[in-house]
Amino acid sequence: MHDLMKRLRRDHRNLNRLFDMLEEQVARYDRDSTFEPDLLLILDIVAYLNDYPRIYHHPLEEEAVALMVERNLGDNSVNEFIHDQHQNLEQATERLSSLFNMIVNDHPVPIEQTREALDSYLEMSRKHLQSEEDRLFPVMEKVLGNDEWEVVASRLPERLDPLFAENPDDAFVELRRRM
Ligand SMILES: [Fe+2]
Repeated sequence: MHDLMKRLRRDHRNLNRLFDMLEEQVARYDRDSTFEPDLLLILDIVAYLNDYPRIYHHPLEEEAVALMVERNLGDNSVNEFIHDQHQNLEQATERLSSLFNMIVNDHPVPIEQTREALDSYLEMSRKHLQSEEDRLFPVMEKVLGNDEWEVVASRLPERLDPLFAENPDDAFVELRRRM
């Protein structure tokens, strides 16, 4: 399997792990209403979700799909559905990020609203990853060889993962420590 394909699969595992960590904050509150969700942890996770997928992970998937379409190796409807879902997700992540920033800046948001926002975000995000794993990744693995992946790589900026790389960015050192 090409390194970029491995990277896509690894990104999905990492993203799912972050979704679980977010969910755990809510689940702990459900078990014990005196538990205070760890806002700084949540903000760090949301900051990462607002960064790496938008800047690298989604463009990598979309460049790969674009090349498949260019070379008649795939189906354009998949291309469109992936692109639309990425846009929706990026907007949803930005909304989630502003919601938590409001809370941190002492603008009260009812807990039920926060919960609902988080639940629907997690549902949408997990469904998206699953649909790519079901509909997209198997096709990519089948039709993209090393040469195609090299073309995809040449169209993308070099980008280290700011959280899961060997040396995470300063902004994510604390989050990394807590994983
Ligand atoms: Fe993905």
